[in-house]
Amino acid sequence: MHDLKLERFYKPRRTVNDMVELPDGPIKTFTLRGIKDTPPYLHDGRLMTLADTVEFFNLVLGVKLTQDEKDDLVAYMLAL
Ligand code: HEM
Repeated sequence: MHDLKLERFYKPRRTVNDMVELPDGPIKTFTLRGIKDTPPYLHDGRLMTLADTVEFFNLVLGVKLTQDEKDDLVAYMLAL
């Protein structure tokens, strides 16, 4: 279980399109095995592609991946 603390990036309890934005709390870290066959990604399907997911973690973790590194991660996950 990991809490990515995404509420760092928005103001919790704000209402957007009649939905209240709340922190997710700890979420189970899914296995990446066979990941290419199970879009959309994250527990609520907010990310449509693996490239989106790599970009999501690039921003959330602040790791500043190059385009080559992002492409390599997607290629790796496509092979799992
Ligand atoms: C560049 C590095 C990373 C990549 C490419 C990556 C990839 C992924 C992918 C593809 C998923 C979606 C799985 C699915 O929906 O079935 C996922 C989910 C998740 N990963 Fe990562 N991950 C990375 C780093 C991390 C790190 C460092 C952590 C922990 C600190 C982490 C924790 C999680 C959690 C908690 C979820 C579930 C989130 C949710 O459903 O809201 N990931 N990851």
